Amino acid sequence: MNNCRTVQVDLGDRSYPIYIGRNTAPELLFPLISGRKVLMVTDSNVEKYHAEKYLAAFRETADVTLFTYDAGEQSKHLGTVEKICRAAVAAGLDRSSVFIALGGGVCGDMTGLAASLYMRGTRYIQIPTTLLAMVDSSVGGKTGVDLPEGKNLVGAFFQPQAVLMDIENLRTLPVRELSNGLAEMVKTAVILDGALFEQLESAAESLLQLSETAPLAETIGRCCELKAEVVSNDEKENGLRAILNYGHTFGHALEAVTGYETFAHGEGVAIGMCMAADLAVAMGLFTAEEALRQETLLQKFQLPVRAEGLALVPDKLLQSMMHDKKTSGGKLKLILSDRIGHADIFKGIGMDMIAEALCSRI
Ligand SMILES: NC(=O)c1ccc[n+]([C@@H]2O[C@H](COP(=O)([O-])OP(=O)(O)OC[C@H]3O[C@@H](n4cnc5c(N)ncnc54)[C@H](O)[C@@H]3O)[C@@H](O)[C@H]2O)c1
Ligand SMILES: [Zn+2]
Repeated sequence: MNNCRTVQVDLGDRSYPIYIGRNTAPELLFPLISGRKVLMVTDSNVEKYHAEKYLAAFRETADVTLFTYDAGEQSKHLGTVEKICRAAVAAGLDRSSVFIALGGGVCGDMTGLAASLYMRGTRYIQIPTTLLAMVDSSVGGKTGVDLPEGKNLVGAFFQPQAVLMDIENLRTLPVRELSNGLAEMVKTAVILDGALFEQLESAAESLLQLSETAPLAETIGRCCELKAEVVSNDEKENGLRAILNYGHTFGHALEAVTGYETFAHGEGVAIGMCMAADLAVAMGLFTAEEALRQETLLQKFQLPVRAEGLALVPDKLLQSMMHDKKTSGGKLKLILSDRIGHADIFKGIGMDMIAEALCSRI
């Protein structure tokens, strides 16, 4: 067939494979969809570039209808989930049918939620087309949508049946979106795998240029493996899974106080990781050299490492951090790395220290 590696997500009877490769064959999914009704959900950008190839392949074996929503986070609400479900009714999907999400994290999150709700639960498959969706949102079974009050406030844990990744699909992705995914890869490496961090350092240029297949497939695969491992041990985020939020409490606050218009998610996370590293250095956990290595790698991936010139108010950021849904019992929980390749959950850090870490980067 073609070069493709498989990462297995181990969740008992909800285990599933992630196929990763270049020109990964859509036929790998045939056993899951043959003879069934399928609703393939995509967005208006991805439809232009990638829908045709998958439609043609899947129609060899299944009865496939396409549903397209307007690209962007602004579509990620319950209204679109209702439209997806109504399109499923119109196409005659029943409980044995399958949803396929062809797109980025917005597509996967919404399609997964629709599949979890439709007829009290059907099945879905993800074909992530952004780097962020490949290394992050398509692994782990978190689905959901936004409310006017905040992001991802409504959702469900619902695992897909399979995930199919073709790194060739990344060639049409704008570079800013690619950088977003690279931020999550740096995060994964810093908290879980020092060797992966070194690999990202040495292949940085070719990763950003998409110029070589091997390092891309290898590092994406490794990120999936690492996230899959964490999720297998803590599917519903009662403990360990929280370390995946490294840089995110700071990052979410930066995104929120700027009205989600200034920073893309990965950009907020990149600055957030630098703030977390500064804090860890101040606490004597992390060395200044390690913090600099992280910062340098983020810069190589064209990510921002400070939020200067925006006149951000530290108190507003702190308040926003306290409102992040990752607080528990009113106490701020922060993920800090104590060496590249390892992180832990820290509670009860003095607000003055956190404020200091914030202030040095805004
Ligand atoms: N479920 C999870 O565990 C999890 C984890 C992280 C993020 N998320 C969610 O993921 C979302 C962000 O994901 P995203 O950045 O992939 O968003 P997205 O789906 O909106 O995609 C980003 C942009 O890239 C475009 N695009 C996608 N694939 C393309 C391609 N191959 N070529 C050209 N353009 C393409 C899209 O049309 C969109 O404009 C957020 O809603 C976030 O909450 C979920
Ligand atoms: Zn993230």
